[in-house]
Parts: sequence; C-alpha cells; structure tokens
Amino acid sequence: MPEPSVPWWKRTTVYQIYPRSFYDSNGDGIGDLQGIIEKLDYVKELGFETIWFSPFTMSPQADFGYDISDYLSIAPEYGTMEECERLIEEVHARDMRIVLDMVLNHTSDQHPWFQESRSSRDNPRRDWYIWRDGRGPRTPPNNWKAMIGGSGWHKDDATEQWYWATFLPFQPDLNYRNPDVKEAMFGIVRHWLKQGVDGFRLDIFNAIYKDASFQNNPFSRRPLPSEENPDGFFQKNENTINHPDTFAFAKELRQVVDEFDDPERFVVGEVFGSTEDVRRYCGDQDGLHMVFLFKSLQTPCTAKGYSALIQDYERHFPEPAIPTLVFGNHDRPRRSKTEAQARLQATFQLTARGVPFVYYGEEIGMQHRPIPLAQAKDPIATQYRWVPQWVANWITRKGILLNRDECRTPMQWDSSQNAGFSVETPWLPVHEDFPNRNVQQQEKGNSLLNCYKALLKLLKEHPVLQYGAMEWKPINKEHPKVLHFVRTSADRMQSIDVMLNFGKHAVPLAHASKTRILFSTLAPEQGTVDAPKQLAPFEGIVLYVSH
Ligand code: GLC
Ligand code: CA
Repeated sequence: MPEPSVPWWKRTTVYQIYPRSFYDSNGDGIGDLQGIIEKLDYVKELGFETIWFSPFTMSPQADFGYDISDYLSIAPEYGTMEECERLIEEVHARDMRIVLDMVLNHTSDQHPWFQESRSSRDNPRRDWYIWRDGRGPRTPPNNWKAMIGGSGWHKDDATEQWYWATFLPFQPDLNYRNPDVKEAMFGIVRHWLKQGVDGFRLDIFNAIYKDASFQNNPFSRRPLPSEENPDGFFQKNENTINHPDTFAFAKELRQVVDEFDDPERFVVGEVFGSTEDVRRYCGDQDGLHMVFLFKSLQTPCTAKGYSALIQDYERHFPEPAIPTLVFGNHDRPRRSKTEAQARLQATFQLTARGVPFVYYGEEIGMQHRPIPLAQAKDPIATQYRWVPQWVANWITRKGILLNRDECRTPMQWDSSQNAGFSVETPWLPVHEDFPNRNVQQQEKGNSLLNCYKALLKLLKEHPVLQYGAMEWKPINKEHPKVLHFVRTSADRMQSIDVMLNFGKHAVPLAHASKTRILFSTLAPEQGTVDAPKQLAPFEGIVLYVSH
C-alpha cells in the first residue's frame, strides 16, 4: 500500500505563517519567533506537516521583511539566531518541515551590497545591481513598468544613473548576469539548507532575468494585470517577466537544492502567468519542484468552477508533476465565503490532487478586514494613497489588493483582549469579529477548524488521498451543482470518492449500500457513516467505496 517512491514534498500539506501576525510572545504588538515556537503544537495538532514562514531575516521592514538587508541574520523584532535555530529544531522535533521565504530577485536598498553599489560608478559592486543611463536627465532608460505600476527605474543622484526595481523603489533588483551575484545568492541558499531548512518559497521568481537588450516593452491594452496574465499598466512585460533565461535559471537553482538530498528538499516558485506558461518553470522534473497556481483565487466556488480548475491543472501538471492548490496568502484579499463554501473549499483543497498551501487563519474562516488606505502600513498602499477609497475597494474585489494590511491582521486565538495575539496594541488592528471567530471557540464541536483537522487526519489515514491518481467525473446534467472526483491508487485496489454539493438541493447517492462516509462537512466530528442515502444541500463528503 505505501508508495515510498513518492517524495515527501509531493504528499505534503503546507501552512503559511506570516510571523508578524501570528503570536506576540513579548508584548510589543509584533508577532515573533518565540511566539511561533509556542504555537507549534497548534499547527501540529491541526495536522499540517510543513510550515512556510514569510521572511524574518534582517530588514528595515519597509515591505515587512521582503526587503532584506542581511540574509544571514534575524530581524531583532522577531528574535535572535538562537531562536531561529530552536525554531528549526522544534519543527523537526514534531516531525514537521520548515520552508523559508527566499527573496532572490532583490534586496533592500539598505543592504550593504546596494550601499556600495550606489556609492560610485566604479565601485566593485556597481554591477551587482542593474544601472543604466537615462534617455535624458529626467527620462528613464526605457519604458519598463514595475509590477505594481509606474516606471521601475529610479534615478540615483549621486552617480546620475538609474537603477531597476521590479517591485517597490526601495527593492533594487540584483543583476544575475553577474556570476558573482549568482554565486553569492546560491551561497545563501546553501547556508540555510545546511541549517536544516526543508525548502524555500521563491519570491517573485519570474522577474529574476530582464532582457539584456533593454528594449522597450510593447504596448498592451490591459490596464491591470490579472491572475492569468501578468501584463498590465498598458504594456506587455515581454522583456521583464518570464524571460527564457529565468526558465534556465530554475534548473541551475534546482541543482543547488539537489546537493542536499538527505532529506530531499523542495522549492516552490511565486510566478505569474497562465498555467501553461508557469508550468515551464518546472522543466522536465529538473526545474522548480512546484509553482504556485493562482488561478484558483479567481475561480468561483462552484462545481463548474472547480471542475474547470482541476481539468486545467491535470492537463498541465500530469504525473510526475504536481499542481499546487492555493486560496489565499499575505498579498491577496481573504475571499468572503459562506460557512458552507469555506467547508467545501477546504474539502476540495485538501483532497484534490495537488499540494495545498493554507494561509494562517483560513482554518477558522478569518475574514478580510477593510482598513482605509489613509491608515495603511503596507508600502503599496502608501504609494497609492491618492487613489479614492471606492476605487481601491473595487480593485480589491477584482482580486488585486492595494492595501495588503487587510489580509494580514493578527491571528484570532481567543476572545480575550486583542484576540489573544498580544497583550499590547497589535501592529495591525484585529478583525472586530474575533469574539465570535477564534481558535479557542472552534476547538470544540462542529466547527470549520474541526473540518480542517478531520480532513488532515483523513489524509494521513488514507494516503491514496495524498498520492492517488485523480479522476474527475464529468458534471452530471441532472445534478449540475455537484462536483465528483476519485482518487485511485496505482494498482487500482483502493479508491476514495469526493463529492461536493454546491447547490441547495439534496442529491440521492447511487450504490449507497457499498459505501461508507469517511467525512462530511456537515458533521466533521462524527466519524464514519455507513451507506449514506443522499448528499445534503451544500454538503461535501469523502466516501469509501468497497469494490
Ligand atoms: C512577493 C511577496 C510580496 C512582496 C513582493 C516583493 O510578491 O509575496 O509580499 O511585497 O514579492 O518582495
Ligand atoms: Ca513580539
């Protein structure tokens, strides 16, 4: 029955922690490493195997850690190197895995490398970043736009040249065409792998290489990028994103990661584009192990929506490739859903073929918390403060979050002050609904939290849900609101059916006598039920069918 040839990372389940917002152990209003260590048992009992941490290395925190000024030390508000080592140990002691966020594309402008680079045109590190002459004193080198809009070129008065930044102005891009940069960054990757981390999430990986010609990007009609198409702000990012050299670089990085094979490690890329385009980062099993697939964030929570999603993913990521299943992260709006939809989504995410990445708080149904742009801490929001609030809200509803504070509010542990996150005023406000939506309250009974727990337990008891092949059934015309798929072992001796009813009508179940319900979204604590007769409105079930 066990299929040991399936590497652990293809079967794993990932929980994302945004350290600043998880748990504050020392009462300064900011989550920290010690706080995470104290809550590791929570994640373990929930049932996830792997934890991905947003960055906690040294940083001026202008982009809350995604602007790194030293890759090998820990930002003091999060803790010390000793605590970091203890975190790695404590995760492993619980038989869990740890994944760090690796920001390869850019550093902080406070990084000593950039400080040196900008100091003079002939500094030995000048070429570690991307410097060009402008087309005039106030005209940037070309028309390239940053991922967040506006020119990505910034003039540095000291040397009268412009540097390139794919994201925010204080995040200058490293120049990977310089072999020393590549070696330095591979050195950092090796360093953390030696420290025992099990993998990396790769921040804006698809921006690493820019075209060496520095030719203008062509015009596009698209005002805003979308999940499926990163072009936007009226240009195609032909020369700036998904460059052929970045696909090649994915393979080089894979070789570095493969130097560490006991245990095997993995990398997952944050990349944007159509499923077909981003698939190329995985090469022929010799590139990135996985890439994030963000199409799901825009997919309606319906049988039709999820059915189309699986078909797309199965077409582009057939065995031995593996898709990822993502419904949120620290950059995206927490999508509002009914309680029933949240349960159906969880069942889908944890039982369909793919590695699930669950963002902290999703397991208790944490909600998006609107925060006016004027009060925002997120640097994207502060850059767009002039945007009328209603426009920002409209854009957010389209899935692009201008004020990412709104999805980063503190974890809701209990109904005490500040949701039990901190004894002090938290760095971001807690969602007002915390007295009625928190971990403590959901620990008992028929809660969403217990739904996640029951599903994660099921995955361990029935490994076919982790590595079985995926067969989806065409949507039945009589019951168009029901999604049905089957996970089957290679020898076809075992199979488990998943049926999700997104509609308000009950649906009779055929062959009821030979089936056993292993899980129902309506009664996650109940355990098994023999021979169910029907699927209730908005119910999702995991079914064992004996052959
Ligand atoms: C990624 C991160 C985001 C960060 C940006 C720049 O998109 O997820 O939070 O601001 O890269 O590093
Ligand atoms: Ca703290």
